[in-house]
Amino acid sequence: MTTRWNVHRLPRAEGKTFLVTGANAGIGYHVAEQLAGTGATIVLGSRNAEKADAAMASIRSVVPGARVRHLQLDLADLDSVKAAAHELDSLDAVVCNGGVMIDDAELMYATNHLGHFALVGWLMPLLAGGRVVTTGSLRGKKVKAGDDYARSKQAQMLFGFELDRRQGAVTSIVNHPGGALDSITFPASLLLQGKDAGAWPAVRAVLDPDVRGGEMVGPRVFGLRGEPQLEPVRSQLADEALAARVWEESVELTGVEPV
Ligand SMILES: NC(=O)c1ccc[n+]([C@@H]2O[C@H](COP(=O)([O-])OP(=O)(O)OC[C@H]3O[C@@H](n4cnc5c(N)ncnc54)[C@H](OP(=O)(O)O)[C@@H]3O)[C@@H](O)[C@H]2O)c1
Repeated sequence: MTTRWNVHRLPRAEGKTFLVTGANAGIGYHVAEQLAGTGATIVLGSRNAEKADAAMASIRSVVPGARVRHLQLDLADLDSVKAAAHELDSLDAVVCNGGVMIDDAELMYATNHLGHFALVGWLMPLLAGGRVVTTGSLRGKKVKAGDDYARSKQAQMLFGFELDRRQGAVTSIVNHPGGALDSITFPASLLLQGKDAGAWPAVRAVLDPDVRGGEMVGPRVFGLRGEPQLEPVRSQLADEALAARVWEESVELTGVEPV
């Protein structure tokens, strides 16, 4: 990834279709809005039709003529995930962004990791030659005991890298948004950034032809904010035996294998 990337001058992508999960709010909304600006068709994977309608109206107000549509998708419900995957007939990339940070560790793991694992599995026939872009977290780089959110995010990231090792048909790229806040009034905003900027790494992972499978994109400044750039993959994220264990366990829990 040697070329410079201008987050405000994205390459055109007319004729392409991108699915973004959790696109009705937060970073996922901004990923959808920025990708809509390329001329691509954006499918907003959301469990809430009203919120998706509001998000689509907002995107159309920023990007006149935007091609956007809603796909009913509850990541915590495998039947919903399967039905959603079967609704689509063509796809160039999926951005696995939707997620929760809650006290219920099982529901959090199911939503953040297993739902996306199964979604990608069921989308595999459509994704040949396309991209799987997984949104992890800085917290997932090194998981401390008892940090269930970090564990769910690490599982996602390990899956993203393992998918690239196992599957030649798709390009699988991991990204993380750094620290992305809703409000710039919070004091940490000096260190962090808004969710529009939090979307930049995922958008680059979808669009930049110079980003390769198995790579990771994150913000430039301390991995917390700024322009999206390539980051080294090391420590727990480079643990191939751990990634293989996550993969096998996910196949067992979902009954789907992304092959
Ligand atoms: N913000 C940060 O600083 C930060 C840092 C590191 C990583 N991340 C990651 O970035 C991603 C987006 O974070 P965010 O800050 O934008 O979060 P957010 O504002 O809370 O938005 C989360 C999105 O996920 C959706 N979602 C939650 N559960 C879902 C389900 N069961 N099925 C379908 N969609 C579901 C939400 O939809 P509803 O409206 O229906 O709830 C919403 O659209 C997450 O993967 C998060 O782990 C964020």
